[in-house]
Amino acid sequence: EFPHLILMEQTFIAIKPDGVQRGLISEIISRFERKGYKLVAIKILVPSKDFAQKHYHDLKERPFFDGLCDFLSSGPVIAMVWEGEGVIKYGRKLIGATDPQKSEPGTIRGDLAVVVERNIIHGSDGPETAKDEIKLWFKPEELVSYTNNAEKWIY
Ligand code: TYD
Repeated sequence: EFPHLILMEQTFIAIKPDGVQRGLISEIISRFERKGYKLVAIKILVPSKDFAQKHYHDLKERPFFDGLCDFLSSGPVIAMVWEGEGVIKYGRKLIGATDPQKSEPGTIRGDLAVVVERNIIHGSDGPETAKDEIKLWFKPEELVSYTNNAEKWIY
């Protein structure tokens, strides 16, 4: 039966400082929007380095960790929560491979980025990280809950 009432999946998506500074906010948002996913939280902020280290805590042993955290805290970031069926996995598909040299054309990184250190966007890589990252970046009251009533006025 459709529409079905199920608890919708949510993922954390962030436009990194390079994406913001290059003027790619609307381009990136529109790719998620046109796919059919629903924006349920959004804000702009400059994360502190300490906050960036929390966000990337899983990578703290990697050689690029310090540079990565410096970069994430270097300017405004657009933090978002997107909702919809399969949004965690499909969001990663829209984003493309971590290294833009390997991302397929048609993906956000494939179309819009060149080097791994400046790959313009972050997306949670699984249900557990999605939950943790949403909790790190947003208070529960910053997320909205609404139903699209498009079927009433689009035909
Ligand atoms: P990772 O979580 O592996 O990738 P993704 O963002 O696709 O989930 O890495 C986090 C970020 O770290 C990545 O988006 C860019 C940066 N990074 C580097 O700067 N150098 C590297 O060699 C890798 C693997 C990642």
